[in-house]
Amino acid sequence: MSGKLPCRLGVLVSGSGTNLQAIIDRIESGEICAEIACVISNKADAYALTRATRHGIPIVIHENHKFSERQSYDAATVEILRSHNVDLVILAGFMRILTDVMVNAFPNAIMNIHPALLPSFQGLHAQQQALDYGVRYSGCTVHFVDCGTDTGPIILQSVVPVEQNDTEATLSARIQKAEHQTFATAIKLFVDSKIKVDGRKVLISA
Ligand code: GRF
Repeated sequence: MSGKLPCRLGVLVSGSGTNLQAIIDRIESGEICAEIACVISNKADAYALTRATRHGIPIVIHENHKFSERQSYDAATVEILRSHNVDLVILAGFMRILTDVMVNAFPNAIMNIHPALLPSFQGLHAQQQALDYGVRYSGCTVHFVDCGTDTGPIILQSVVPVEQNDTEATLSARIQKAEHQTFATAIKLFVDSKIKVDGRKVLISA
Protein backbone atom coordinates (compact mmCIF):
# COMPACT_ATOMS: atom_id res chain seq x y z
CA MET A 1 0.00 0.00 0.00
CA SER A 2 1.32 3.43 -0.96
CA GLY A 3 -0.57 5.24 1.79
CA LYS A 4 -1.63 7.90 -0.70
CA LEU A 5 -5.18 9.10 -0.13
CA PRO A 6 -7.55 8.74 -3.09
CA CYS A 7 -8.09 11.94 -5.09
CA ARG A 8 -11.46 13.46 -4.21
CA LEU A 9 -13.65 14.26 -7.20
CA GLY A 10 -16.59 16.64 -7.32
CA VAL A 11 -18.74 15.83 -10.34
CA LEU A 12 -21.11 18.45 -11.77
CA VAL A 13 -23.97 17.19 -13.92
CA SER A 14 -27.17 18.35 -15.59
CA GLY A 15 -28.46 15.28 -17.40
CA SER A 16 -28.37 11.55 -17.92
CA GLY A 17 -24.92 10.96 -16.45
CA THR A 18 -23.47 8.28 -18.72
CA ASN A 19 -20.04 9.87 -18.27
CA LEU A 20 -20.56 9.90 -14.50
CA GLN A 21 -21.44 6.20 -14.71
CA ALA A 22 -18.27 5.43 -16.68
CA ILE A 23 -16.19 7.20 -14.00
CA ILE A 24 -17.99 5.38 -11.17
CA ASP A 25 -17.40 2.03 -12.91
CA ARG A 26 -13.68 2.67 -13.32
CA ILE A 27 -13.30 3.77 -9.72
CA GLU A 28 -15.18 0.71 -8.49
CA SER A 29 -13.04 -1.59 -10.66
CA GLY A 30 -9.88 -0.06 -9.12
CA GLU A 31 -8.69 1.44 -12.41
CA ILE A 32 -8.86 5.01 -11.06
CA CYS A 33 -7.64 5.67 -7.51
CA ALA A 34 -10.25 8.27 -6.61
CA GLU A 35 -13.38 8.79 -4.62
CA ILE A 36 -16.40 10.77 -5.78
CA ALA A 37 -16.92 13.13 -2.84
CA CYS A 38 -20.17 14.55 -4.22
CA VAL A 39 -22.31 14.84 -7.33
CA ILE A 40 -23.82 18.29 -7.78
CA SER A 41 -26.68 18.88 -10.21
CA ASN A 42 -28.24 22.14 -11.32
CA LYS A 43 -31.31 20.12 -12.39
CA ALA A 44 -33.45 18.44 -9.74
CA ASP A 45 -34.58 15.70 -12.15
CA ALA A 46 -31.20 14.79 -13.67
CA TYR A 47 -30.94 11.00 -14.03
CA ALA A 48 -27.29 11.31 -13.02
CA LEU A 49 -28.54 11.84 -9.44
CA THR A 50 -30.23 8.43 -9.48
CA ARG A 51 -26.99 6.85 -10.69
CA ALA A 52 -25.00 8.53 -7.89
CA THR A 53 -27.49 7.53 -5.20
CA ARG A 54 -27.41 3.89 -6.38
CA HIS A 55 -23.69 3.89 -5.70
CA GLY A 56 -23.97 5.59 -2.30
CA ILE A 57 -22.45 8.86 -3.51
CA PRO A 58 -23.61 12.06 -1.75
CA ILE A 59 -25.72 14.27 -4.02
CA VAL A 60 -26.46 17.98 -3.89
CA ILE A 61 -29.27 19.57 -5.90
CA HIS A 62 -28.03 23.06 -6.55
CA GLU A 63 -30.45 24.83 -8.88
CA ASN A 64 -29.20 27.85 -10.75
CA HIS A 65 -32.63 29.45 -11.15
CA LYS A 66 -32.52 30.24 -7.42
CA PHE A 67 -29.62 32.65 -8.01
CA SER A 68 -29.91 35.95 -9.84
CA GLU A 69 -26.17 36.21 -10.60
CA ARG A 70 -23.98 33.59 -12.28
CA GLN A 71 -21.11 34.52 -9.96
CA SER A 72 -23.12 34.01 -6.78
CA TYR A 73 -24.26 30.62 -8.07
CA ASP A 74 -20.63 29.70 -8.70
CA ALA A 75 -19.54 31.03 -5.29
CA ALA A 76 -22.11 28.72 -3.67
CA THR A 77 -20.85 25.82 -5.83
CA VAL A 78 -17.28 26.48 -4.65
CA GLU A 79 -18.48 26.35 -1.06
CA ILE A 80 -20.16 22.98 -1.61
CA LEU A 81 -17.04 21.60 -3.32
CA ARG A 82 -14.78 22.91 -0.54
CA SER A 83 -17.03 21.45 2.14
CA HIS A 84 -16.50 18.05 0.48
CA ASN A 85 -12.70 18.58 0.24
CA VAL A 86 -12.69 18.19 -3.52
CA ASP A 87 -9.31 18.06 -5.33
CA LEU A 88 -10.57 17.80 -8.92
CA VAL A 89 -13.82 19.08 -10.39
CA ILE A 90 -15.35 17.11 -13.27
CA LEU A 91 -17.93 18.67 -15.57
CA ALA A 92 -19.77 15.61 -16.83
CA GLY A 93 -22.51 17.05 -18.99
CA PHE A 94 -22.87 20.17 -16.83
CA MET A 95 -24.67 22.57 -19.14
CA ARG A 96 -23.39 25.87 -17.80
CA ILE A 97 -20.44 28.13 -18.53
CA LEU A 98 -18.35 28.74 -15.43
CA THR A 99 -17.46 32.23 -14.22
CA ASP A 100 -14.04 33.32 -12.96
CA VAL A 101 -15.27 32.57 -9.42
CA MET A 102 -15.20 28.82 -10.09
CA VAL A 103 -12.25 28.85 -12.49
CA ASN A 104 -10.00 30.76 -10.07
CA ALA A 105 -11.01 28.59 -7.12
CA PHE A 106 -9.75 25.42 -8.88
CA PRO A 107 -6.93 26.47 -11.23
CA ASN A 108 -6.13 23.69 -13.72
CA ALA A 109 -8.28 21.37 -11.66
CA ILE A 110 -11.59 21.53 -13.52
CA MET A 111 -12.05 19.14 -16.46
CA ASN A 112 -14.74 19.21 -19.11
CA ILE A 113 -15.66 16.81 -21.90
CA HIS A 114 -16.78 18.29 -25.20
CA PRO A 115 -18.32 16.20 -28.02
CA ALA A 116 -16.09 17.49 -30.85
CA LEU A 117 -12.45 17.91 -31.72
CA LEU A 118 -11.76 21.36 -30.29
CA PRO A 119 -11.20 24.07 -31.32
CA SER A 120 -13.76 23.02 -33.96
CA PHE A 121 -17.44 23.15 -33.08
CA GLN A 122 -17.42 24.83 -29.69
CA GLY A 123 -20.63 25.41 -27.75
CA LEU A 124 -23.96 23.67 -28.06
CA HIS A 125 -24.94 21.03 -30.64
CA ALA A 126 -21.34 20.25 -31.52
CA GLN A 127 -22.34 16.99 -33.21
CA GLN A 128 -24.90 18.73 -35.47
CA GLN A 129 -22.34 21.46 -36.21
CA ALA A 130 -19.91 18.73 -37.35
CA LEU A 131 -22.57 17.11 -39.56
CA ASP A 132 -23.58 20.46 -41.07
CA TYR A 133 -19.95 21.28 -41.84
CA GLY A 134 -19.44 17.91 -43.53
CA VAL A 135 -16.33 16.76 -41.67
CA ARG A 136 -15.24 13.13 -42.14
CA TYR A 137 -14.01 12.82 -38.58
CA SER A 138 -15.14 14.27 -35.30
CA GLY A 139 -14.66 13.02 -31.75
CA CYS A 140 -14.33 14.29 -28.24
CA THR A 141 -11.99 16.51 -26.26
CA VAL A 142 -11.17 16.54 -22.55
CA HIS A 143 -9.81 19.92 -21.51
CA PHE A 144 -9.15 22.03 -18.48
CA VAL A 145 -11.70 24.76 -18.01
CA ASP A 146 -10.92 28.43 -18.32
CA CYS A 147 -13.34 31.35 -18.51
CA GLY A 148 -14.11 30.84 -22.21
CA THR A 149 -16.54 28.42 -23.83
CA ASP A 150 -14.61 25.19 -24.53
CA THR A 151 -11.31 27.07 -24.84
CA GLY A 152 -9.10 25.67 -22.03
CA PRO A 153 -5.89 23.63 -22.45
CA ILE A 154 -6.53 20.29 -24.17
CA ILE A 155 -5.68 17.15 -22.22
CA LEU A 156 -6.82 14.32 -24.53
CA GLN A 157 -8.77 13.89 -27.75
CA SER A 158 -10.27 10.84 -29.46
CA VAL A 159 -11.23 10.68 -33.11
CA VAL A 160 -14.47 9.14 -34.35
CA PRO A 161 -15.47 8.70 -38.02
CA VAL A 162 -18.53 10.50 -39.36
CA GLU A 163 -20.64 8.20 -41.56
CA GLN A 164 -22.52 9.47 -44.60
CA ASN A 165 -25.95 8.59 -43.20
CA ASP A 166 -25.28 9.81 -39.65
CA THR A 167 -27.89 11.79 -37.76
CA GLU A 168 -27.17 13.91 -34.70
CA ALA A 169 -28.31 10.94 -32.61
CA THR A 170 -26.15 8.28 -34.28
CA LEU A 171 -23.04 10.47 -34.29
CA SER A 172 -23.64 11.48 -30.65
CA ALA A 173 -23.90 7.83 -29.63
CA ARG A 174 -20.60 6.97 -31.37
CA ILE A 175 -18.86 9.96 -29.82
CA GLN A 176 -20.26 9.17 -26.37
CA LYS A 177 -18.63 5.74 -26.40
CA ALA A 178 -15.30 7.47 -26.98
CA GLU A 179 -16.09 10.07 -24.31
CA HIS A 180 -16.47 7.46 -21.60
CA GLN A 181 -13.03 6.00 -22.30
CA THR A 182 -11.25 9.30 -22.92
CA PHE A 183 -12.63 11.07 -19.85
CA ALA A 184 -11.69 8.19 -17.58
CA THR A 185 -8.17 8.09 -19.03
CA ALA A 186 -7.72 11.84 -18.48
CA ILE A 187 -8.95 11.61 -14.90
CA LYS A 188 -6.59 8.71 -14.25
CA LEU A 189 -3.65 10.77 -15.58
CA PHE A 190 -4.54 13.62 -13.22
CA VAL A 191 -5.07 11.34 -10.25
CA ASP A 192 -1.71 9.65 -10.91
CA SER A 193 -0.02 13.12 -11.03
CA LYS A 194 1.03 12.65 -14.66
CA ILE A 195 -0.29 15.98 -15.96
CA LYS A 196 1.51 19.33 -16.03
CA VAL A 197 0.14 22.49 -17.61
CA ASP A 198 2.50 24.87 -19.38
CA GLY A 199 0.46 27.77 -20.75
CA ARG A 200 -1.90 26.26 -23.32
CA LYS A 201 0.04 23.01 -23.46
CA VAL A 202 -0.72 20.00 -21.30
CA LEU A 203 2.32 17.79 -20.78
CA ILE A 204 1.72 14.14 -19.97
CA SER A 205 4.44 12.03 -18.42
CA ALA A 206 4.78 8.31 -19.09
C1 GRF B 1 -21.86 14.53 -23.33
O1 GRF B 1 -22.11 14.28 -24.67
C2 GRF B 1 -20.80 15.58 -23.17
O2 GRF B 1 -19.92 15.64 -24.25
C3 GRF B 1 -21.57 16.85 -23.12
O3 GRF B 1 -22.76 16.53 -22.45
C4 GRF B 1 -23.06 15.14 -22.63
C5 GRF B 1 -23.31 14.54 -21.29
O4 GRF B 1 -23.81 13.25 -21.36
N1 GRF B 1 -20.79 17.88 -22.47
P1 GRF B 1 -24.01 12.37 -20.05
O5 GRF B 1 -24.89 13.19 -19.11
O6 GRF B 1 -22.66 12.11 -19.46
O7 GRF B 1 -24.71 11.14 -20.51
